[in-house]
Amino acid sequence: MTHFNSPLALLFLCTVFNTPVVAATVTSPPRNLCAVAQDPIEDIEARKLIASLYPIIRNVISHTPSISWASSFLTNKPPENALRIQEIINLLFEDGSALFTEVSRRIDELGGVQSPSLWNEYFRTYDKTFGNSEGYQDLVAHAQFFLTNSHVAPSRNYHFLDVGAGTGNFSSALLVGPRNRYVVGVDLSDFGLRLAASKAKAVAGGSATRFIAIHGSFLDAKLDRQFDGVVMNNVFYTMNNDQRRTALKKIFKALKPGGRFFLSDPLPKVQNASSELKDFVMSAMSSAASTGSPLTEFDIAFAGAMNIFFMRKSPEFLSTQQLIDIGRAAGFEPLDWEIGYYGQVSSIEFVKPN
Ligand SMILES: C[S@@+](CC[C@H](N)C(=O)[O-])C[C@H]1O[C@@H](n2cnc3c(N)ncnc32)[C@H](O)[C@@H]1O
Repeated sequence: MTHFNSPLALLFLCTVFNTPVVAATVTSPPRNLCAVAQDPIEDIEARKLIASLYPIIRNVISHTPSISWASSFLTNKPPENALRIQEIINLLFEDGSALFTEVSRRIDELGGVQSPSLWNEYFRTYDKTFGNSEGYQDLVAHAQFFLTNSHVAPSRNYHFLDVGAGTGNFSSALLVGPRNRYVVGVDLSDFGLRLAASKAKAVAGGSATRFIAIHGSFLDAKLDRQFDGVVMNNVFYTMNNDQRRTALKKIFKALKPGGRFFLSDPLPKVQNASSELKDFVMSAMSSAASTGSPLTEFDIAFAGAMNIFFMRKSPEFLSTQQLIDIGRAAGFEPLDWEIGYYGQVSSIEFVKPN
């Protein structure tokens, strides 16, 4: 399945990293990224499923209120064109930016990246901005495909865990399809989990029982079952190294032998180079606007500022190799990996050996 928007980016990655990251013992055949990336069938199937999910997501988010800030520069309307998006983001990234100061004053009051109030606020705009971008939808499709493609037997139930489920886009994607799937979503944000539950219910044909929300820290969560698959997207970076190791151990223990684990997290360059972060925010917002999201100028400023804040306040991000190593140390076998989400995020497919 391809997750690269540009054939050139793919060609570059295939040339530079020709060897797939594959462990000696795996439960399914090792997949070479460069070979897999050319398989159109997987891509079409995953895209079809995500296409069926997004109208539901839009329906939920269009009912969430926008946040307004005092700035008279911004409006509560969609940006008129791509130049306007660039203008807002350029202003946010200027040295001593008044716009960033204005938005970050509010963000500061909400606490650090482990603060539920911060995530509650972020999730008022998240699905309209990042959640509606094609790079993010590719990530959802990738996780959905990796965790569910081999799970087709109607005779038994399948259980998935979404660690740091947020507004539930990954959880809902795992529920699209056969009715014998269940998802447990754990998150610090009650607002996120409420959105997640309503999306999951819509995806699951009105059934409210196939999504089980656990509110609180995953590190303390009591899990009542063993899982076939686990996803943790853009959550790991908020944790310090001790918490990361604890989370991985817990995921390993919760997975059945042969169970799969999809881990993705931003690359260190996003944290270290503001030009990379700016490109990322610009690509995601432009994409969200082009997919018809109801995002406003305030949403763009807020989501952009939140990301600058996250990068500055989070513990050090891990490289792809470090993520693979920390996963291996917890007992997982890495099957494959790739760089996606506008070239800013590593995604790793792990399996728990049988
Ligand atoms: C950037 S959001 C990602 C949400 C979702 N996984 C997605 O990709 O759309 C990070 C999420 O991690 C959650 N989170 C961070 N630390 C957590 C912890 N220790 N336990 C549970 N959730 C956590 C936050 O509440 C937030 O919802």
